[in-house]
Amino acid sequence: MLGIYFSATGNSRFALETFIKELDSSAAIVSIEDSTVMQQLGKADEIVFSYPVQYSAVPKFVRDFIDKTANLWQGKKVFVIATMAAFSGDGSGVLARLLKKHGAVITGGLHLAMPDSIADEKVFKRPFEKNRQAVAAAKQKAQKAADRYKSGHPCRQGLGFLPRFAGLISQRLWFGHRTMKYYSKGLKIDRAKCVGCGKCAAVCPTGNISVQDKIAVSGKKCTVCYRCVNSCPMKAITLLGDKVEQQTMIEKYI
Ligand SMILES: Cc1cc2nc3c(=O)[nH]c(=O)nc-3n(C[C@H](O)[C@H](O)[C@H](O)COP(=O)(O)O)c2cc1C
Ligand code: SF4
Ligand code: SF4
Repeated sequence: MLGIYFSATGNSRFALETFIKELDSSAAIVSIEDSTVMQQLGKADEIVFSYPVQYSAVPKFVRDFIDKTANLWQGKKVFVIATMAAFSGDGSGVLARLLKKHGAVITGGLHLAMPDSIADEKVFKRPFEKNRQAVAAAKQKAQKAADRYKSGHPCRQGLGFLPRFAGLISQRLWFGHRTMKYYSKGLKIDRAKCVGCGKCAAVCPTGNISVQDKIAVSGKKCTVCYRCVNSCPMKAITLLGDKVEQQTMIEKYI
């Protein structure tokens, strides 16, 4: 068994680690950013793929990964975990359909509500204790889902027509287009706050940030994952909103 993930603030990685640990403690877990991921994917038959939902759709960076690995999915058995702040309708289904196009056999799906990664919007923000409880509840749910998987009856959350319809009308129809291409408007970097530490550049999955003359500079290839916004020690970066409301990283809550 192989675990594959994309994760900006660690939610999807934590969910995957929890799920897989119950099933096979020796299973490898690899990020889609890892240089060995294609080699490992090529060899695996049974896969668990965990990712964060964006507007009931799949982030552009994850879409690109699936396109790049299109010839590796034929016949693979894939269970999909979708993490989200609140609701996605068919978070697991939307990724499952992309994988099915390339021949994957979908074994099930799981949805987990976790802390919200959109650090510069107030919607979905919970106090620290509520986020901690959400992570504890997600952990329990992932463990139970692993037990069902072991018993041969994996859960099928987010798969099927009704979740698909819910995902379409709740988010995807209105905002899903944002995940079809990279966001090119650039980050908003407060020059008065930025100390040029380079942390944002180091963590960005697309190499979208550089530091020039001790100030971070944004390019046009952003997958809107929010990792940099959540990581900046000076709260100097915003993206869709104008003020950093709450920075989150899974380590705070476990
Ligand atoms: C651009 C963007 C869009 C999002 N859209 C949704 C959404 O439609 N529904 C939802 O419940 N959470 C949404 N979220 C929240 C994340 O899916 C959630 O916080 C996720 O668990 C983050 O996981 P990660 O740490 O693995 O990246 C969105 C986050 C981002 C950055
Ligand atoms: S992490 Fe923040 S302070 Fe450091 S370079 Fe990036 S924007 Fe500037
Ligand atoms: S610039 Fe920030 S939000 Fe955009 S892809 Fe890089 S880390 Fe993610």
